[in-house]
Amino acid sequence: MPLARLHDPSWRGFASDNYAGVHPEALAAIAAANGGHQVAYGEDVYTVRLQDVIREQFGAAAEVFPVFNGTGANVVALTSVLPRWGAVVAASTAHINTDEAGAPERVTGIKLLTVPTPDGKLTPELVAREAWGWGDEHRAQPLAVSITQTTEMGTVYTADEVRAIADLAHSHGMAVHVDGSRLWNAAAALEAPLRAFTTEAGVDILSLGGTKNGLLGVEAVVVLDTQRADGLPYLRKFTMQLASKMRFASAQLLALFDGELGTRNAGHANAMATRLRVALEAGIADGVLPGLAFTQETSANAVFATLPTATADRIRERVRFYDWDRARGEVRWMTAWDTTEADVDDFVAVIREEFA
Ligand SMILES: Cc1ncc(COP(=O)(O)O)c(C=O)c1O
Repeated sequence: MPLARLHDPSWRGFASDNYAGVHPEALAAIAAANGGHQVAYGEDVYTVRLQDVIREQFGAAAEVFPVFNGTGANVVALTSVLPRWGAVVAASTAHINTDEAGAPERVTGIKLLTVPTPDGKLTPELVAREAWGWGDEHRAQPLAVSITQTTEMGTVYTADEVRAIADLAHSHGMAVHVDGSRLWNAAAALEAPLRAFTTEAGVDILSLGGTKNGLLGVEAVVVLDTQRADGLPYLRKFTMQLASKMRFASAQLLALFDGELGTRNAGHANAMATRLRVALEAGIADGVLPGLAFTQETSANAVFATLPTATADRIRERVRFYDWDRARGEVRWMTAWDTTEADVDDFVAVIREEFA
């Protein structure tokens, strides 16, 4: 007997793109890959095809390693570019620092060297604050930089900004990693192909997002410079990120590229965040949202704002979202591939009512 549906599919939140379900085209890709037998652990036809597509997208040297989640992708990617004594320079707001239960440090023993940033973005100057001390046996050796695209603050690096960081990193022999959990949202925001702000901007390795953009439990590590990364197959296995029935992961990743599902989904999510921002700006201009102010630009699928905490709490009783910095009264409102215009308009109405 099929499992009964236990939830109300009309329920919507603005907490995270992870609240959304799986895109029908991803489910269709899983169904299409089903039936019969395929060689396990990545020798199936879908994974072979995915390798070709990744080379077309990111350049002839690229290699792809599907994994189960973003934390796993980051751990595998960072470990592959660092020796045991290596350290990674990252923004203090980076997901690898704040939201992975210390996984990059605990699982394989690397150290993070973090730098505060106003908008989640590193710059060469900010990287330089922690990129020093090579040869000093007392200091964990800064041998990689990790940036997040789009950032945890919803901001987007341009290709030139990535290039500037990569140039500095490479001048010191450091590798460049991108946590691209929302790389598709950046592609949509920049209206550029993925390679324009990764391979062509000097990125060496990236964590390519899938789940937040409509897939079911799939991300990938993409190696762009194979000279800088080592041991990927073994690292993926011992960090428990190797899927036996990999065809279903690869088929979904293929779906993101085929028919441009990746940029379609992310472009839609971004547009819904813009719609939310524009509607709230109108409310501010009308004087009906006193105390509401935006704290970051809205380039992708997140809106960051401060508002009176009591008001935020009342809104949250009706529509879920996260506090970002409760002490400052800062919240994050996030849209997803399946957020509709009506969802946004209803949310704006709720916000206006609770301010009234
Ligand atoms: C920027 C970023 N990186 C990595 C991750 C980790 O993904 P996962 O929860 O699949 O481990 C997330 C999840 O929210 C994220 O926002």
